[in-house]
Amino acid sequence: MSTEQADRALHAEPPPTIAGGEGATVRLRAWRDADREPFAALNADPEVMEHFPAPLAREQSGAMVDRIVAHHAEHGYGLWALEVDGRFAGFVGLSTASFPAPFTPAVEVGWRLARWAWGRGAASTAARRVLRAAPGFGIEEVLSFTATSNARSAAVMERIGMVRDPDGDFEHPRVPEGSPLRRHVLYRWRSTGADAGDTAGRIPGGE
Ligand SMILES: CC(C)(COP(=O)(O)OP(=O)(O)OC[C@H]1O[C@@H](n2cnc3c(N)ncnc32)[C@H](O)[C@@H]1OP(=O)(O)O)[C@@H](O)C(=O)NCCC(=O)NCCS
Repeated sequence: MSTEQADRALHAEPPPTIAGGEGATVRLRAWRDADREPFAALNADPEVMEHFPAPLAREQSGAMVDRIVAHHAEHGYGLWALEVDGRFAGFVGLSTASFPAPFTPAVEVGWRLARWAWGRGAASTAARRVLRAAPGFGIEEVLSFTATSNARSAAVMERIGMVRDPDGDFEHPRVPEGSPLRRHVLYRWRSTGADAGDTAGRIPGGE
């Protein structure tokens, strides 16, 4: 799938209204330059980055956007920019995991939202849409993992129907040895084919 097709795909569905969210809407779309500033702000927030080794400096945040955009160009899918009520709120999407582990290479679903966007179901609403779209990108299995301390992230995995792999706990090789954040839990999701009609052309993206 081309980037343009992927872009059209994520726009193909009308944005869902979050139940109980006072009409808040969730939209996944391609990244814009204007997202860099609010993304740097959330990456610098110690509460958002509590379960990562450290908050990101502005240059690190910018380099991450560059990597995300390059990933979209290479694979036709990636971490999409998330809008909540029309405001950039972070990302939800897919990325390839290639660090050494028994379950890699794999495709991971992930999320990172600004603090103001938590507690409204926005991450799970968007992540469910991403899982529905995964088969359209040729992806039948999606994994997710997080530090054992990150209960909020694991709760999203449970909410969207992912299943914890009881034998999957692992030490993340990109987290320094000795850090309490190194131990991770692993969740899995496999397409049942039930969403076969919701395939290519059903994920966020372009302008
Ligand atoms: C992980 C993270 C995305 C979870 O966000 P979240 O808002 O808690 O997740 P959800 O979108 O599933 O929302 C669930 C919350 O919204 C509430 N909610 C309101 N309306 C809802 C709806 N229609 N559907 C579901 N939940 C709803 C739920 O009650 C729950 O609130 P609570 O946790 O206060 O009880 C967020 O904490 C985050 O970005 N953290 C920092 C980055 C991070 O750690 N990323 C993961 C790395 S692996």
